[in-house]
Amino acid sequence: MSTQMTSELGVKSSAASNRTGYRSFTLGSFNFSRDEYFVHVTWPAKGQVLTHTVSADAFLRAMMRDVAWGFFYGWVNLDDVVGTRNLYGKVEMYAGRYSPAYSSKGLDLTETFDTPQIMATFKAILDDWTNAGFDPFAAPAETGKEWVGNKNGHNREAIERQRQACKRMPGLPGDADLRSDANGFPVNRAFADVPQDAPEVHAEPGFEDEVHAINLFAYLSRSDVTWNPSVSSVCGRSLCCPTTEEYILPIKHGNDRVEWFIQLSDEIDWVVEDKNTGAPRAKVKMKAGDVAAMPADIRHQGFSRKRSMLLVWENATPGLPEMYESGKLKPYPIEF
Ligand code: PHB
Ligand code: FE
Repeated sequence: MSTQMTSELGVKSSAASNRTGYRSFTLGSFNFSRDEYFVHVTWPAKGQVLTHTVSADAFLRAMMRDVAWGFFYGWVNLDDVVGTRNLYGKVEMYAGRYSPAYSSKGLDLTETFDTPQIMATFKAILDDWTNAGFDPFAAPAETGKEWVGNKNGHNREAIERQRQACKRMPGLPGDADLRSDANGFPVNRAFADVPQDAPEVHAEPGFEDEVHAINLFAYLSRSDVTWNPSVSSVCGRSLCCPTTEEYILPIKHGNDRVEWFIQLSDEIDWVVEDKNTGAPRAKVKMKAGDVAAMPADIRHQGFSRKRSMLLVWENATPGLPEMYESGKLKPYPIEF
């Protein structure tokens, strides 16, 4: 075992491995290490050390989302075994907690961390384990295979991208910019046929800053990332978070509220499972124009063969998780 170092932010790591060049990290009782192909997560349970192995590309794509979204709403399962639960101020890290094969035998572990500590640790892991040439936000067809092998440089530009979030709507004065060739957002190869015209807005004098419209398809056609909703309109607590999707949603999101999906183009297949046990609940094939409500008691993962456009509609009303947890609100939005 190499010597542990602790950074100012409380990140505990080893020296770089002589063999692979990667550091390993400790968070509470969890240990994270990587080699040429795999990430290994270990935790103690019942006097043993359990080891869980994940392909490094899948792990980096998942951890990238957890970091970029600030632990998101509710549960972010990095895969079927390990993940985080956002307690909004603190974050739980678990292994096996929502996998009955582990939890029914007492072989799971959950520990709670202050958000800045777990965030700093996850950022340090991403930084150390993402090699130059591999972009965890990109579709596999649009990034390199440099995730394979020994440590080789960094890709900080990719992993430090800020999630695009507007105050009201992109393109309003003082708000987030629209995307263009000039500011580094060319039309994606999959959306070459998407018209790039803009709506004409004729506002009454005095209302020029209040009335606004954009071509959302054009905006999305220029997204440079996958599975990364950007906040693209804010109306009270209602957030429209459209995103472009290709390959597999890297995480399984366990909802702590109802969210709505509107499939804007192409097709996504969703696998929906029970949030606590992972038992199959539904398969949802969403085609352009389809609308679905994802309940508050599920985890879900999407598969998109061709890059597609999805509108995720989130409800940011404070106190919602408690209202679902206590049964005050049903886990679904409508009764037929
Ligand atoms: C979700 O978990 O609801 C989700 C997350 C990211 C996406 C789409 C959906 O890109
Ligand atoms: Fe979700």
